Amino acid sequence: MARPLVATSPAAGRLAWSRDELLAEHPYARPHEAAGRRLHGGFDAQGAYVPPRTLHRWPAIRAWQDALAARDFPLIEATTRLLSAGSYPTGEQQKLLLQHGLGETLWNALTITGVIEARGRLLIDLPAPDFQKIVLEDLSGTATGHLVKGLLTAHGMDEGGDPHTGLGAHDEMWFAIRDLVFGAGAYPFPEVPATIARPEGGRLAPEVPLGHEQMLSLLMNVLMIEIRAENGFAFTQRLLADPELFADRRDAARLGHELVERIRTDEAVHVAYLQLVLSELRSFTIVAKDGRHVPGREIIDPMWATLVQWHAVENPRLARAQLRDVLHARIRAHADGERLVAAFEALG
Ligand SMILES: [Fe+2]
Ligand SMILES: [Fe+2]
Repeated sequence: MARPLVATSPAAGRLAWSRDELLAEHPYARPHEAAGRRLHGGFDAQGAYVPPRTLHRWPAIRAWQDALAARDFPLIEATTRLLSAGSYPTGEQQKLLLQHGLGETLWNALTITGVIEARGRLLIDLPAPDFQKIVLEDLSGTATGHLVKGLLTAHGMDEGGDPHTGLGAHDEMWFAIRDLVFGAGAYPFPEVPATIARPEGGRLAPEVPLGHEQMLSLLMNVLMIEIRAENGFAFTQRLLADPELFADRRDAARLGHELVERIRTDEAVHVAYLQLVLSELRSFTIVAKDGRHVPGREIIDPMWATLVQWHAVENPRLARAQLRDVLHARIRAHADGERLVAAFEALG
């Protein structure tokens, strides 16, 4: 029998939502069409962009956040302040490449981002374990209790598209941004890393069943990938806004900048619910496999620290080391290669 959560103030918003409600769309005044593509989301009567499937999803998340705060538990840190490594190449290095006709590095980065976004569609019908089985408190009025009641499905559709509407989602939006500034097919399709999630390296939460640990690991990896993406948005937007770059395609670059902004607007709801679920789980009592009652923070906090370290420090260092030789070889193929490699390194 689940332990009921302490009642929140009468002003608190509604805490129980159906799957259909969490997937419901706003009544858009105008559909989202850009760069010749039909895309998700839409515009309100004032012309402001509205993310897909957020009619009830945002109010629900706000109500669950309030309920957590009313129980005196904080939200975990989930901003780019967690990240220490900057982009590689840096903005200045990327600009140098673009100004010398070496667009392939940015082209590859935009393509890889689109492919990784598309992989998010696995969340649409992910067979997620029931957290109520390992949590003492009643989850029916929490974000955690709604993971498989629409939150994961909505997220997956935001990233990789709703197969029923055929509207383009984030994968298609990144490909559109890339094609706007480079033209379709400007470079070959790059090799895409199999995963950027932390590789399996032994159990991180042996107190809970493997399936629950794997789900926790997935939620943490996805949250860190969302936070790292936020850095990528700012980086890409600075390049698209630079008047010295894409000089013959300024209008296209401006639209690309706008599309990045719409993706960023969509992503906010992902960071919010993932941050909330992990914060809720650290507030609950976990019933360990041996029957012991363990404060959730004792399981979540060390696991989260390990995942943050991977995404903030270890993975960027590995990726940088791998990319450096590839970049040098690509620059050396330029007529003025040796001088450019030196200039590139001087900007590092
Ligand atoms: Fe996305
Ligand atoms: Fe996302």
